[in-house]
Amino acid sequence: MPLGLEHLSIDYVKWMNDPEIIAYLETGGDYTIEKLKEFLTQIEKYPILFWAIHLKSTNKHIGNIKIDPVNLKHKYGEYGIMMGDKAEWGKGFAKEASQLVISYCFSVPLNLRKINLGVYSENISAIKLYKNLGFVEEGRYIKHVITKKGYDDILRMAIFNPSYE
Ligand SMILES: CC(C)(COP(=O)(O)OP(=O)(O)OC[C@H]1O[C@@H](n2cnc3c(N)ncnc32)[C@H](O)[C@@H]1OP(=O)(O)O)[C@@H](O)C(=O)NCCC(=O)NCCS
Repeated sequence: MPLGLEHLSIDYVKWMNDPEIIAYLETGGDYTIEKLKEFLTQIEKYPILFWAIHLKSTNKHIGNIKIDPVNLKHKYGEYGIMMGDKAEWGKGFAKEASQLVISYCFSVPLNLRKINLGVYSENISAIKLYKNLGFVEEGRYIKHVITKKGYDDILRMAIFNPSYE
């Protein structure tokens, strides 16, 4: 479902301050309930492709996925995912949600041609997930980001819409 104010929760604030979850994200570490409320208010105002991932069994909110920004001229969009509920990692939920979002974006009316992403080369589980989904490496920005260990490369990966081949 679309991410919005109904997803405001203490658990979500905790995700955004958890060093393990945000280690490879460009946001987080300074979240309060007020800051999260402001973020979700902004998300609701603009028609962007940003969804909450819920467990089918209990409807629990366990993460988010987005395709943003989207370039409508060249028909590509930038993918991002965060599974906030660590108890649900490694169960295939990120893969399932990603497959749904990719097939939605590759279908009419959006009909994107390509989906891109950037990932820290140290983020092993994310890279494994992306390769499983069919993303291929397109390039690498060397020592692009500062990490606790020093620097890390950013891999640029992409998946193409087969209907354009
Ligand atoms: C990366 C992330 C999205 C993976 O979510 P997930 O729900 O664990 O992913 P899935 O269960 O769908 O697993 C994807 C693959 O990675 C593997 N995997 C999961 N955790 C792993 C780990 N710690 N080490 C190695 N592989 C791992 C899974 O086994 C699976 O591979 P398989 O299908 O061959 O078995 C999640 O860990 C996360 O949100 N991390 C924090 C935010 C983040 O880094 N986002 C990505 C920014 S680019």
